[in-house]
Amino acid sequence: MSDLGQRLKQMQARFEDALAAAQDPKSVDAVRVAFLGRNGEVTKVRRAIGSLAANERPSAGRVINEAVARMEASLDATLRKREGKAFEAALEQSIDVTFPAQHPNVGSLHPIRRVMDDIASYFERHGFAIVLGPEAEPDYYNFDALNIPPDHPAREGFDSFYLSDDMLLRPHTSPMQIRTLEAFAPPVAVIVPGKCYRRDAVDARHSFMFHQVEGLLVGEAIHFGHLKGMLIGMCRELFGVDTDVRFRPSYFPFTEPSAEVDARCPVCQGSGGTCRMCGGAGWIELGGSGMVHPNVLRNLKYDPDVYSGWAFGFGLERIALRRYDIDDIRRFFENDPQFLEQLA
Ligand code: PHE
Repeated sequence: MSDLGQRLKQMQARFEDALAAAQDPKSVDAVRVAFLGRNGEVTKVRRAIGSLAANERPSAGRVINEAVARMEASLDATLRKREGKAFEAALEQSIDVTFPAQHPNVGSLHPIRRVMDDIASYFERHGFAIVLGPEAEPDYYNFDALNIPPDHPAREGFDSFYLSDDMLLRPHTSPMQIRTLEAFAPPVAVIVPGKCYRRDAVDARHSFMFHQVEGLLVGEAIHFGHLKGMLIGMCRELFGVDTDVRFRPSYFPFTEPSAEVDARCPVCQGSGGTCRMCGGAGWIELGGSGMVHPNVLRNLKYDPDVYSGWAFGFGLERIALRRYDIDDIRRFFENDPQFLEQLA
């Protein structure tokens, strides 16, 4: 009996050593077959029971079963440990640190917004405040206070979206000239970027919604030279340091005198022809400007003999079209990421 115990003990020790030495699943299985398999060592020990005395056989069987149970438990533990290691190894392989990273889509500023920011930064550096106004305005701010009485033909030029008899989507940012002068006494210097609306048929150059930036400076002894100086400075910042600027006589009811402002095309230097930048015009049209009309100052109870000022209103789409060489204004509002990413 003790013989048998001894034998089992040694066998288990060899079994443990073999298990510890087995490096891969295949060799672990070979150890299992060699010891616990049908023709394995344990089976040989069981066969030896036959040579024992009949009364010794049951306890011998029990001792063997206990040994088998211990061996099976340790085989199990080994397999589980190996499985864990194999899982870890596979995981390590599945993270490929050399794989090209997926770049997050961070987006970028819209081209209209970038033109707006550049203009705003120029005027901010020169002491102007940036103010925003409502997009729906009554007639009074859109027209009357800007020296455009109800029967004035200039109203026709602003083909407007009326929301009610007296309320409309602003066709220009000039209403903010009035609101600014209502809220602040001169000296004032503001710019007003924002959306405007006109009942224009949509095509490559027109949209029922577009952006303007308005500028207004009112104080004492302000003259046209101040307007020219500020706008020439702005054009040089936008289009290059030696950009020429042209002031063409024009008419707006709320400015006198009035002028259209053009910047000489930085690409063809005014020669036009087939130049894509200016569309062959040689000049880039920015918009209207002029000295604030005395009637506007009077409407706001400021004495035009004491105060004077200038104003301008430029279209941002036109500048952005030129700057980014875009052929169709509609691209700006289609929200097509493939278009916008090209300009990022
Ligand atoms: N509000 C005018 C327009 O939209 C532009 C302008 C603004 C002209 C300020 C003169 C002064 O056409």
